[in-house]
Amino acid sequence: MNTVRMPKTINFGKNALSETQYPKNALVVTTAPPDVSAKWLAKMNIQDYMLYDKVEPEPSIETVNKVMAEFKPKNPSAIIGLGGGSSLDVAKYAGMEMKIPKILIPTTFGTGAEMTTYCVLKFDGKKKLLQDERFLADMAVIDAYFMEGTPEAIVKNSVCDACAQATEGYDSKRGNEFTKMLCKSAFDVLYDAIMNNKPENYPFGSMLSGVGFGNASTTLGHALSYVFSNEGVPHGYSLSSCTTVAHRFNKSIFYDRFKEVIEKLKFDKLTLKAPFDQAADVVMTDKGHLDPNPLPVTKQDVVQLLKDIVDGKL
Ligand SMILES: NC(=O)c1ccc[n+]([C@@H]2O[C@H](COP(=O)([O-])OP(=O)(O)OC[C@H]3O[C@@H](n4cnc5c(N)ncnc54)[C@H](O)[C@@H]3O)[C@@H](O)[C@H]2O)c1
Repeated sequence: MNTVRMPKTINFGKNALSETQYPKNALVVTTAPPDVSAKWLAKMNIQDYMLYDKVEPEPSIETVNKVMAEFKPKNPSAIIGLGGGSSLDVAKYAGMEMKIPKILIPTTFGTGAEMTTYCVLKFDGKKKLLQDERFLADMAVIDAYFMEGTPEAIVKNSVCDACAQATEGYDSKRGNEFTKMLCKSAFDVLYDAIMNNKPENYPFGSMLSGVGFGNASTTLGHALSYVFSNEGVPHGYSLSSCTTVAHRFNKSIFYDRFKEVIEKLKFDKLTLKAPFDQAADVVMTDKGHLDPNPLPVTKQDVVQLLKDIVDGKL
C-alpha cells in the first residue's frame, strides 16, 4: 500500500493570498521585519491578528518555546506561518504543540515546507529533521505575489532547491506512481519556467515538488550538499553541482535537463575546505538520503563525486 499526505486545503494561483479567508485572532509568525510584514499582512486583508516577527532564519526549538510561552495564554484560533521555510517550520511545530489549525503561506518557493510532514529545527545548536503527520498544514496558500522584489539570489537558490527536490524525489526508492507523477510534472513546470523566463510559474512548480518529494524523500544530491552547507554555502547553491553529479552517477533521466537549468541560472563552481576523505565520511553517515538512492553508493564513489564537484567536472 502507498500513502500520500498533503494539506487539507491548498489555495493557489493569482489572488489566492487576498481571497483566502483568515480566522479572527490568529497568530502570524514570520522572519520578516515590520516594514515588509505590514505590506504582506495588508495584502492578505487579515483582521484581528497577533504578530510574532522575531523568527530567525534556521530557527531553533527555543523560538518555538518563546512563541508558545507568549501566545498560548492568548488562545490563538490558528497559527499562520508567513515567510520562508524558517517561519513555516516554527508555525508547524508550535501549531502541533498548541493543537490549533496551521495555515502556511510561503514567501520563498523552494523548500516545499508548506506541503510536507517535515519540520527542521535546531536542537542544542544542531539542525534536526523531524517528520510527523501532525506537522501537516490544514491550509497552504500559494501566491506568486511574493516573487516581486525578492532578492535575485534568494529566488535562484530557492528554484534550484525545488528542481533538486523534484528530480531526486522522482528517483527515490521510496517513491510511488503518484509521487513520480508529481515530481515529474513539477520539474517540467520548473524547467519551462526557468528556460523560458517565466518566474511567475516557480510557485506552482515548487508546490508540486513539495507534495512529490515530501512523500518520497530526496537522495544522493542532498547527502553530498550538506558538507558544503556546513561550510556556509546556501542550500540551493550547493545543490546546483551536487544534484548534477548525483544524477550523472544514478544515470537519472533528469541529468541533461538539470544541468541545462543550472547553466541557465549561472551558478559558480563550489569549493570545499574539508579534506575529501573526511567530508566523504560525513556524507556516508547520511543514511536518510543514501538509503533511498536508486543505486548503492560507496565511500570511494563519494570521494570521486566531491572531487568532480570541486573540479567543475559535472
Ligand atoms: N519543513 C520542510 O519540509 C523543509 C524543507 C526544506 C527546508 N526547510 C528549512 O527551511 C529553512 C530555509 O528556508 P528558506 O530557504 O525559505 O529561507 P528562510 O525562511 O530562512 O528565509 C531566508 C531570508 O529570506 C527572507 N525572505 C523570505 N521571503 C522573502 C521575500 N519574499 N522577500 C524578501 N525576503 C524574504 C527571510 O525574512 C529571511 O531573512 C531552513 O531552516 C531549512 O532547513 C524545511
